[in-house]
Amino acid sequence: MTKTIKRIVLASRPAGAPTPSNFRLEEAALPALPDGQVLLETIYLSLDPYMRGRMSDAKSYADPIRIGDAMVGATVSRIKQSRHRDWRQGDIVVAYSGWQSHAISDGSDLRRVDPAIAPISTGLGVLGMTGFTAYAGLRNIGHPKPRETVVVAAASGAVGSVVGQLARIGGARAIGIAGGTDKCAFVKNELGFDTAIDHRDPDFARQLAEACPDGIDVYFENVGGAVWDAVLPLLNDFGRVPLCGMISHYNDNAAAEPSIDRLPASMKVIQQKSITVRGFMNVEFIDQHPAFLEQAAAWIADGRLKYREDIVDGLENAPAAFIGLLEGRNFGKLIVKVSGER
Ligand SMILES: NC(=O)c1ccc[n+]([C@@H]2O[C@H](COP(=O)([O-])OP(=O)(O)OC[C@H]3O[C@@H](n4cnc5c(N)ncnc54)[C@H](OP(=O)(O)O)[C@@H]3O)[C@@H](O)[C@H]2O)c1
Repeated sequence: MTKTIKRIVLASRPAGAPTPSNFRLEEAALPALPDGQVLLETIYLSLDPYMRGRMSDAKSYADPIRIGDAMVGATVSRIKQSRHRDWRQGDIVVAYSGWQSHAISDGSDLRRVDPAIAPISTGLGVLGMTGFTAYAGLRNIGHPKPRETVVVAAASGAVGSVVGQLARIGGARAIGIAGGTDKCAFVKNELGFDTAIDHRDPDFARQLAEACPDGIDVYFENVGGAVWDAVLPLLNDFGRVPLCGMISHYNDNAAAEPSIDRLPASMKVIQQKSITVRGFMNVEFIDQHPAFLEQAAAWIADGRLKYREDIVDGLENAPAAFIGLLEGRNFGKLIVKVSGER
């Protein structure tokens, strides 16, 4: 039986982009398993942009990680030992174990994963939080109609890849924005978007306008910054903007460099074109989660919903992979393989 656990803790808070020195790999003794609890062994760890916010002590919707505490995060885990009547040794679950090889849970935060539906790693991506975010934001806020134009940024990533495919399934045109020719080719050729535009191309804004001759009806916002600047003039009257995230700003360091004030220009267009911009957190739609799981599993089975995972081997490589996520180095849903599936 395991005696020690490995974990990655927050060593210091980043100023701007995180660096390896903000993280520390530690070993700790495994506590005895209390009655009514389960011991989880992490198989896969999800790396997600929101973790950058938790590394900061700025006021937010969630408490910051304390210095010296393990980084937080969702995992696909195996129940290694159970002293809980509802959970059996060997069960595979989605948990919230954080950046650790093992964790103890009272079972209240666990969701069973059915390995018969899809590979278990999908519990963190297309069949997990990111797939659900795409579904909830598009369905409840974007409301795309057939033949409307839906644009999504970070289109090869975990959320964006699902947004565009769901828009297509509903009969809308899907335009993806991604960084680089390989990601754009994947978005168009593998995921089946109508087209994809490279935001790193100096001619990006003109190419986006050319790809949207009828304007943009729904812009699913994942990125902000220069991508928002290019989208804004193309939005149609009564356009809808599910505001999911703004990853291009997560490493902003206001103390070091003031950022561009986009507010007046954005508000002017939003008012004059009667646009709805609605921020959201996926959890506010959690009652729709069972319907999402059923629907997404069916779309995966019939080949209409595809996914790509970027799996990095070894917990010790999580910090570098996470730093890369904020620079666009991941290609697909970023996951760390912490231990073997069997
Ligand atoms: N509201 C919610 O409940 C919720 C839930 C989950 C995620 N989110 C948000 O959804 C967004 C996407 O998350 P994800 O998990 O799907 O990540 P992801 O797309 O799998 O990975 C992040 C991608 O963002 C792009 N990116 C990074 N820095 C950028 C920059 N400066 N400018 C433009 N693009 C940049 C990169 O793609 P390219 O190389 O293509 O640029 C990178 O690969 C994030 O903003 C995240 O915070 C929100």
